[in-house]
Amino acid sequence: MGNRFLRLAVIYVLIGITMGIVMAASHDYTRRPVHAHVNLLGWASMALFGLWYRSAPAAGETRLAKLHFWIHNIALPIQMATLTMYVYENKAIEPVLALASIVMGIGFILFAINLWKHTGD
Ligand code: HEM
Ligand code: HEM
Repeated sequence: MGNRFLRLAVIYVLIGITMGIVMAASHDYTRRPVHAHVNLLGWASMALFGLWYRSAPAAGETRLAKLHFWIHNIALPIQMATLTMYVYENKAIEPVLALASIVMGIGFILFAINLWKHTGD
């Protein structure tokens, strides 16, 4: 699971820095929270997950790791798309954004459980 996380993480950072450059060039910072979380949930968090799963291959092969991978990678694009709609004043989308964020949070809980289980004492 480590390599899968890392491969997607580098794609997210390419998207994230492109958004940063476009934002800086246009002086339009409306999408700042989207840029921030594409980079932080897509790049920083996923790269950390990937590096840790590579350091603990047994943990990376569990059903918990697979579930974590899919939850994170299904929730993230929905969360970023609905956050973009939200910052462009589509406030009605908020429940979907909230749900995707909660699902994302559940993914982090699964990761925490896996890490605690596999880090011994
Ligand atoms: C070429 C690369 C990047 C460019 C050009 C860029 C550009 C920007 C710009 C223009 C802003 C808005 C600043 C403002 O509102 O005053 C911003 C905010 C932010 N960026 Fe980037 N960024 C880049 C890469 C990254 C990366 C790699 C990360 C995280 C790993 C990151 C995390 C953030 C965060 C967290 C904020 C919000 C900061 C705040 O709330 O003050 N950025 N970035
Ligand atoms: C389910 C996951 C997450 C949710 C729902 C969430 C939610 C939020 C919200 C509501 C804000 C305030 C946005 C604003 O006022 O513009 C925020 C800002 C921020 N969050 Fe998160 N966050 C999550 C994960 C993370 C993670 C994992 C990191 C770091 C690795 C992070 C770092 C930040 C930073 C640096 C800011 C300030 C950026 C800005 O001003 O745009 N967040 N987050």
